[in-house]
Amino acid sequence: MSGRLSIGVLSADLMSLADDIALLENSGAGMLHFDVMDGHFVPQLTVGPAFVKAVKTKMLKDVHLMVEDPFDSIKQYASAGADIISVHVESCVHVRACLQFIGTLKNINDAQRGIAAGVAVNPGTALCDVKPLLEDADVVTLLGINPGYPGQTLYPDTAARAAKLWELIEESGRDIFLCIDGGVTKENINEVAKMEPDIVVTGSAVFEDRNVAQNIRMMTDAIK
Ligand code: DX5
Ligand code: ZN
Repeated sequence: MSGRLSIGVLSADLMSLADDIALLENSGAGMLHFDVMDGHFVPQLTVGPAFVKAVKTKMLKDVHLMVEDPFDSIKQYASAGADIISVHVESCVHVRACLQFIGTLKNINDAQRGIAAGVAVNPGTALCDVKPLLEDADVVTLLGINPGYPGQTLYPDTAARAAKLWELIEESGRDIFLCIDGGVTKENINEVAKMEPDIVVTGSAVFEDRNVAQNIRMMTDAIK
């Protein structure tokens, strides 16, 4: 898959969200990224399944659970229309069980496909912790910043971590997408492109100057 942008919905203008969703769709964005935070795994509290369900869009719903013990809430996000559900490797004891459970769930948007099972990794977590999970993961997301809020600066070691993760994915022999999430801007998108991500999550950079269509085009072209 050529590189795709997944746009952080919480960076949109929530007071005119329908207009911003239409703007994203008309700008060719293929994925909408929902940062679910529970105030425990990260200090911030954001949105839940009702919000994910309420957002009507043609874009794929990419749900990032920054939630402690996510297992019991996974089904709610599936029912809310998630196309990808990512749990954090740091968020519970039975992460592999979470990935396996996601893999059993129906996609309510399209009976022909399931829900992609994602595992997300904080910048302070060793990648060897992800290795046993690759058997059950469709997407692995490297956080380029400490999760919790948008607009932070990408950690310089993200490139080395991406290279290491590509090695682990190749060793697994599985077709796993690599995603970079957090701190990706118009200024560093060409550096991020060299990490060969399949998916790049970006929020602030797309909306900061409100040149949404232009920003999406420029950043999408950079990661093609
Ligand atoms: C951080 C979130 C990221 C972040 C991306 O906790 O997982 O998705 O909001 O926002 P930007 O692109 O502004 O870094
Ligand atoms: Zn995210």
